[in-house]
Amino acid sequence: MDYKYCGRSGIQLPRLSLGLWHNFGDTDNFQTATAMILRAFDAGIVHFDLANNYGPAPGSAESNFGKILHTHLQGHRDELFIASKAGHDMWPGPYGTGSSRKNIIASCDQSLRRCGLDYFDVFYSHRYDGVTPVEETMDALIQLVRQGKALYVGISKYPPREQQLAYDILLQAHVPCLLSQYRHSLFDRKAQAENFKLAACAGSGIICFSPLAQGLLSGKYNQGIPPQSRAARSTGFLQPAQVTEERVEAARQLALIAEQRGQTLAQMALAWALHDERVTSCIIGTSSVRQLDSNLEALSNLHFSDDELAAIEQIVSAPSISF
Ligand SMILES: NC(=O)c1ccc[n+]([C@@H]2O[C@H](COP(=O)([O-])OP(=O)(O)OC[C@H]3O[C@@H](n4cnc5c(N)ncnc54)[C@H](OP(=O)(O)O)[C@@H]3O)[C@@H](O)[C@H]2O)c1
Repeated sequence: MDYKYCGRSGIQLPRLSLGLWHNFGDTDNFQTATAMILRAFDAGIVHFDLANNYGPAPGSAESNFGKILHTHLQGHRDELFIASKAGHDMWPGPYGTGSSRKNIIASCDQSLRRCGLDYFDVFYSHRYDGVTPVEETMDALIQLVRQGKALYVGISKYPPREQQLAYDILLQAHVPCLLSQYRHSLFDRKAQAENFKLAACAGSGIICFSPLAQGLLSGKYNQGIPPQSRAARSTGFLQPAQVTEERVEAARQLALIAEQRGQTLAQMALAWALHDERVTSCIIGTSSVRQLDSNLEALSNLHFSDDELAAIEQIVSAPSISF
């Protein structure tokens, strides 16, 4: 595994990290979940990305991760970089969602208990909720660091204005924002223009998520929606309506370029996301060890020729493809 320094910090992260948004909840296969975590760890993926609401049921991905950690990875805590977040819907009522200090602090305590951990390596504000002043949310994150519940803090999906404000507030408190999470893939390149630029200037590492556009960039939808795929599952966040003919056709064309590079489409899509110098790590999701192993192979060719980039650009620049 290759590791890269995360922004202006002493922390190195693996180029590929594993996310537990799907496939690690109580409705998923626990043996497969265990096998994926252990295989990831053996391959050098030491960075695991969680959030309070990951499941289903919400919270169950953290509980399952905690079980796997304590059963199989006892004694390895210091080798791991574990992330969690708060901000999306978690429990009913006014305090179970959003980016208030009340929700962030309670959520972090709950997440630590579910995972059976004393601290997270990074705790994120999962989203700017459009109402809570950024000052309030950042004060809560700073408090978590001062209390030893998080070593570092991060933000996710913040619009440019709030992103810069968050960096400024955190820097003033000497708790720099070390990680900034944005969706980034061949089908969604919106964050590159503003968010990546601001993060790079602030010395915050860029962690990109959904680099395969939830599976659309694996080619698995080229002959329709397969049973058991994310788009087929009622609990999956990829909606069948998002599997459009335009995106499927783009995936088919991209696969031809990948083939010439000696890669699968998924491997090329991951390599493309990582080839932006500013990206520290891509968080992938997998539903099997086989997918994980195959995706790891992406790291053996991250280089793109100008011709390849131009050919890719021509395919993905169509507005109908963008998420
Ligand atoms: N900060 C945020 O707001 C936020 C939001 C979203 C995600 N995230 C993080 O990012 C992580 C990754 O997101 P994601 O799961 O959407 O990532 P992704 O890598 O774009 O999609 C993963 C899905 O693609 C399919 N897939 C992966 N490799 C494949 C392969 N080699 N061949 C065929 N299909 C393959 C699998 O779906 P099937 O089930 O169809 O096999 C897999 O579950 C999440 O777990 C989470 O930690 C953060």
